[in-house]
Amino acid sequence: MDCEELIKMALSAREKAYVPYSKFKVGAAILTGNDKLYTGCNIENASYGATNCAERTAIFKAVSEGETKIKAIAVVGSPDDLTAPCGICRQVISEFATEDTKIIIGKNENEYVVKTLEEILPAAFTKKDLQK
Ligand code: THU
Repeated sequence: MDCEELIKMALSAREKAYVPYSKFKVGAAILTGNDKLYTGCNIENASYGATNCAERTAIFKAVSEGETKIKAIAVVGSPDDLTAPCGICRQVISEFATEDTKIIIGKNENEYVVKTLEEILPAAFTKKDLQK
């Protein structure tokens, strides 16, 4: 599974976005520790704060199926810009990521950047902090 393929899956998931309010479609795709694939889209709500981002939709699908490690996650929003994961999604990614997790932020399968969690969420609060 390479970055291009994961982005293509995220682009396909993006089509399912439920965005009557913002009209801003986002798609995500995850490769898990057991090499399973999960996708997600953003799902908005009339009570705006109840909106779920694409990344969290994909992550929660994976975790609810027993997959608790993210090897790679691809995110696609606007075709014209790189759409970075929001702060809440960065925190949720951190729960299931390792230092090797690839965070792929793309416009399309040809234009993307690959980041680490440390790059996008330095000094994260994680489960290790709860043991102190
Ligand atoms: N959104 C995502 O799905 N992922 C992000 O990381 C950024 C924001 C969605 C939430 C909302 O439906 C729309 O983009 C506009 O904020």
